[in-house]
Amino acid sequence: MDLIDRPRRLRSNPFVRSMVRETRMDAKSLVYPIFIKEGVGIKEEISSMENQFRYSVDMLPRALEEIAKSGVQNVMLFGIPDKKDPSGCGAWIEDGIVQKALQVAKREFPELYYITDVCLCEYTSHGHCGMLKGNDVDNDSTLPLLAKTALSHVQAGADMVAPSDMMDGRIAAIRREFDKNGYENSPIMSYAVKYSSSFYGPFREAAGSAPSFGDRKTYQMDYHNRKEAMKEALLDINEGADIIMVKPALSYLDIIRDVANEVNVPVAAYSVSGEYAMIKAAAKMGFVDEENIICETATSIYRSGANILLTYYAKELAQFMKNGRIG
Ligand code: PBG
Repeated sequence: MDLIDRPRRLRSNPFVRSMVRETRMDAKSLVYPIFIKEGVGIKEEISSMENQFRYSVDMLPRALEEIAKSGVQNVMLFGIPDKKDPSGCGAWIEDGIVQKALQVAKREFPELYYITDVCLCEYTSHGHCGMLKGNDVDNDSTLPLLAKTALSHVQAGADMVAPSDMMDGRIAAIRREFDKNGYENSPIMSYAVKYSSSFYGPFREAAGSAPSFGDRKTYQMDYHNRKEAMKEALLDINEGADIIMVKPALSYLDIIRDVANEVNVPVAAYSVSGEYAMIKAAAKMGFVDEENIICETATSIYRSGANILLTYYAKELAQFMKNGRIG
């Protein structure tokens, strides 16, 4: 047949397929989220997230060793405190759970890079991401608390902070606090485009951070909206964000692509707990092949424009990237 274009030529064997791949990934761009709680000798599995654990600080070095061995070099720390109160003061105290974890982690594993989630929802008795005024989170009185929390993290050794609260103006507040205190070189990865999502369900069980009433719709974004994503991203860049995150990832590939096309900073995507739990559950039922699905979904997130991927499958993906199964 007289066919000039035969796209199959470039698919005919693994050599040529891997040569012409359009999406290249590197394990160095992966970030592994990890949960730390008060106590001793604890490594407990999170029931909605098989093979993900809550660790006490003394058990952290072993977990970090495993992470480093897998080829992942970036970790995102989430703290689960013992005590909660209305303002969430456990988030910024010197002997808070994240602060203690950072001290140990930086001492035992300085070869890893530590990013901390900055938010109050794990620390407030009501489970919302800031100070309440009536039944809603008060934006402006929450800002100094977030800035204080972020500062306490870098003082304890955090390499980068990642505010996930979605208050207006928090990037500027944190940047100002850092610069005032000599941390002008500490970068901020903003959860700039964070949708109000049911995909966070398993995380809230893991971190005990579900709101005790209402939802997060007055601060997290409405998933019908696309232009608003750009508004949030550009606002945060203007306020000093070094990296912009889109979250969740899989249902938001269009948003990742929009943001990647428009901004001049690195774009991160967070493949959240619900995405992980869905794949795990389907794989367990034998409905999908877990490894293949991990590879395909992660690649789709990079293909849509993400430069950095936060995922509970980071360790597995690092292996797949290193052995050339993807990337
Ligand atoms: C804290 C925070 C959440 C997640 C990351 N930081 C939960 C939420 O906003 O309710 C979700 C992560 C995940 O689901 O894996 N605000």
